[in-house]
Amino acid sequence: MPSYVVAVSDTVFPSLDPARGVLSAIGAELRPASEATPEGILRVARNADALLVTYARITAEMIGQLTRCRIISRFGIGVDNVDLDAATSAGIVVTKVPDYCIDEVSDHAMALLLALARKIPLSNSQVHAGGWQMKAVAPIHRLRGRVLGLVGFGRIPQLVAPKAKAFGLRVLAHDPFVPAAVFTAAGVEPAGFSELLGISDYVSIHTPLAPQTRGLFGADVFARMKPTACLVNTARGPIVDEAALAAALDAGQLAGAALDVMEREPPVDSPLLGRDNVILTPHTSFYSEESLLELQTRAAEEVRRVLGGEAPRHPVNDVTLATSDRPR
Ligand SMILES: NC(=O)c1ccc[n+]([C@@H]2O[C@H](COP(=O)([O-])OP(=O)(O)OC[C@H]3O[C@@H](n4cnc5c(N)ncnc54)[C@H](O)[C@@H]3O)[C@@H](O)[C@H]2O)c1
Repeated sequence: MPSYVVAVSDTVFPSLDPARGVLSAIGAELRPASEATPEGILRVARNADALLVTYARITAEMIGQLTRCRIISRFGIGVDNVDLDAATSAGIVVTKVPDYCIDEVSDHAMALLLALARKIPLSNSQVHAGGWQMKAVAPIHRLRGRVLGLVGFGRIPQLVAPKAKAFGLRVLAHDPFVPAAVFTAAGVEPAGFSELLGISDYVSIHTPLAPQTRGLFGADVFARMKPTACLVNTARGPIVDEAALAAALDAGQLAGAALDVMEREPPVDSPLLGRDNVILTPHTSFYSEESLLELQTRAAEEVRRVLGGEAPRHPVNDVTLATSDRPR
């Protein structure tokens, strides 16, 4: 019998061998769910000592049925799919891997910005369809001297900033929780949200998804952007109200958008599908072969630490606030 059982709700990994390797040190056995439905997840997680999760929603109702779980470790940075209050009340620590893909996401944000600026997808489809015309992609403006506004100035946008500056962009950022010294050290101008919206040619979103940021980019925000501006989102889909974005593009309130994340993934009937001025990628910003290996290994190491009696490195909740008297 293994000493610990670690359930896996869902994964994007071709193999779970790196996690198995990490967890074998404490005699833990991995039990992947056969389907990422609440019933499928609970079948393996109900009596497990830990749960590894990617995109599956782990609701309060599900957490209430976990009898032995001590840690929910997310394969990722955002933890918006886990009910943190319910986990805290149940005394289950939730962890994230904050730094595994910051090179990849910052590269992806720049790739989306450059693809918008140079109209690469539109040019590509024109040539594949037999065209070869400059006027079909006009107008294109010089990037040097344009303004990039970063909304959120955490780890990822702090890497976007030097990349953008290398292309001659002037970089502003809005983040009320980051000390002024961080902006100064990065050579980035701090800005209020309204000021940033009013002067940016590119606005790139890098906030977490939280109640305060859900739908933050709605009709009111698009009305305050420049009609020539473009939006980039590599953070979380529901931060942008897609119906409002489509309406703003139709009304000429902004010029284009590039999104790696959508309200519903994969998108079904999104009003943003099929537009020349919208670039979509399938939530792949985080991905490289190297980042996947680091992600899987680091998430499993958090489980090994907690089950082995050590403190986790990157907890996102405080289990001393637990209200449940369930055995831990
Ligand atoms: N598309 C992907 O594959 C992918 C991969 C990794 C991360 N992400 C997303 O990118 C987001 C940013 O990542 P990070 O590593 O930079 O995060 P981080 O935790 O280092 O920084 C987040 C920053 O957002 C700021 N913030 C919070 N609310 C804000 C608000 N209302 N206005 C302005 N700033 C606000 C915080 O102060 C913090 O500095 C993550 O939350 C995650 O959801 C997406």
